[in-house]
Amino acid sequence: MESLPFIKEQQRKNTLQRWKLIMNRKFIEHSIHTKLMQTDVWDQAQTIGVTISKGLEWDTEYLINKAWQQGKRIVIPKSNPHNNSMAFYQYQAGDELENVWTDIWEPSISDALCIEKNQIDLMIVPGVVFNKQGFRIGYGGGFYDRYLQCYTGATVSLAADFQIVETIIPETHDKPVDILISNFGKIYCNHT
Ligand SMILES: Nc1ncnc2c1ncn2[C@@H]1O[C@H](COP(=O)(O)OP(=O)(O)OP(=O)(O)O)[C@@H](O)[C@H]1O
Ligand SMILES: [Mg+2]
Repeated sequence: MESLPFIKEQQRKNTLQRWKLIMNRKFIEHSIHTKLMQTDVWDQAQTIGVTISKGLEWDTEYLINKAWQQGKRIVIPKSNPHNNSMAFYQYQAGDELENVWTDIWEPSISDALCIEKNQIDLMIVPGVVFNKQGFRIGYGGGFYDRYLQCYTGATVSLAADFQIVETIIPETHDKPVDILISNFGKIYCNHT
């Protein structure tokens, strides 16, 4: 039998391959954005955690601008590659970003205000592959699994239909998300 890391890597690769080939990216993205902003968790969130999207990822710049327009606070993560941890910092229009470790845009922590986990109402959790229970295959660092261990706010992931598969084998450290926002609708994952 194939090992779990191998299966996860295959699932990740397959989905990334499909993601590269989609033709109607803007259409899917618009649909996902609209559906997210129709959720109660978005509506009620005062502070939203989100990454600056890159590459194939669904655009988050649009969501960040909408959140600002709606008077919400945006916080973005700064990762620590030594222990695969993250901390979130307030991000306001015009703030300088930097990429230190990778090509991910992060806050410049000398200027930004660190926001505690219990101050974040909604976390938009990145990922590549998902199942309907909200389990996730991310980019393989375990950053979000670690961060979400004692996070109590709401979690959503943006996941187009082709990113949602029947089976993901969960591991003990994996933290499922509450809601998947797909181009076809919202999936409430209902785990206890
Ligand atoms: N809470 C945790 N405590 C200790 N190690 C962890 C924890 N969560 C994940 N890990 C470790 O991190 C590594 C990557 O985890 P995993 O394959 O689940 O990443 P991922 O879910 O794709 O990444 P991410 O959470 O950044 O999106 C694994 O070796 C896993 O054991
Ligand atoms: Mg994981």
